[in-house]
Amino acid sequence: MSKGKIIIKTAEEIAVMKESGDILCACLDMLGQNCRPGISTLELDKLAEEYIRDHGGVPTFKGYYGYPASACISINEEVVHGIPCKRKIREGDIVSIDCGVTWKGFVSDSARTFVVGTIPSEVQKLVDVTREALYLGIGAAQVGNCIRDIGLVVQQHCEKNGFSVVRDLVGHGVGREMHEPPQVPNYETSGKGPRLKPGMVIAIEPMINLGDYYVKQLADGWTYVTLDGKPSAHFEHTVAITENGPYILTNGLH
Ligand code: MF3
Ligand code: CO
Repeated sequence: MSKGKIIIKTAEEIAVMKESGDILCACLDMLGQNCRPGISTLELDKLAEEYIRDHGGVPTFKGYYGYPASACISINEEVVHGIPCKRKIREGDIVSIDCGVTWKGFVSDSARTFVVGTIPSEVQKLVDVTREALYLGIGAAQVGNCIRDIGLVVQQHCEKNGFSVVRDLVGHGVGREMHEPPQVPNYETSGKGPRLKPGMVIAIEPMINLGDYYVKQLADGWTYVTLDGKPSAHFEHTVAITENGPYILTNGLH
């Protein structure tokens, strides 16, 4: 899954992955508009699945190692992999929605943390810094750099702002499978990791905690929460490495 040979994509395959990413981006836009007080996470998940299928895609997450839903929805101290349920969104929540689309056999994977109403300024800063860290990581996704260079800039930005980087979960290659080699850590590693080459496609996905970086998995077998109960944010894009620099496949632009 994470070890092994990195599969290089052709320009044609990357174009198909961009189509996949376009559906996913629009789906996340729609979910953001619906992420309001009173809606349940299960209702949001239903909207996601309908949107993806209506646009000819397949929700990648559904059935993945038995995962029961189309999106992961993680609220406040939930870090990632929250399972949609009857719980309703409330004013003051931060809601991380992670979703995947399979289109013409290719996967795209993206996540955003949405802010619901008014939140404390330090939590707003956590969300903003996590988003900034993702874009700094993407900026380091250049031909000739190594995987390590991505995590380095992500970690520096987050720690400079007083936040911490989750260690137990990492980004990954993306292609016909949601999880392909290589692993893409969001923190400094001892080794350089693979050198970035044109045609590699990776998901960069910083998971950043307000407090300590420790997380634990709940008894549901999926949901990760912070050990200290403080909030966590998550942003993710699927990005192709090209001679012309990083090409974000899940931001809907260009
Ligand atoms: N997007 C998640 C990741 O990158 C995958 C969610 S796990 C699933 O690891 F089982 F829900 F698909
Ligand atoms: Co991912």
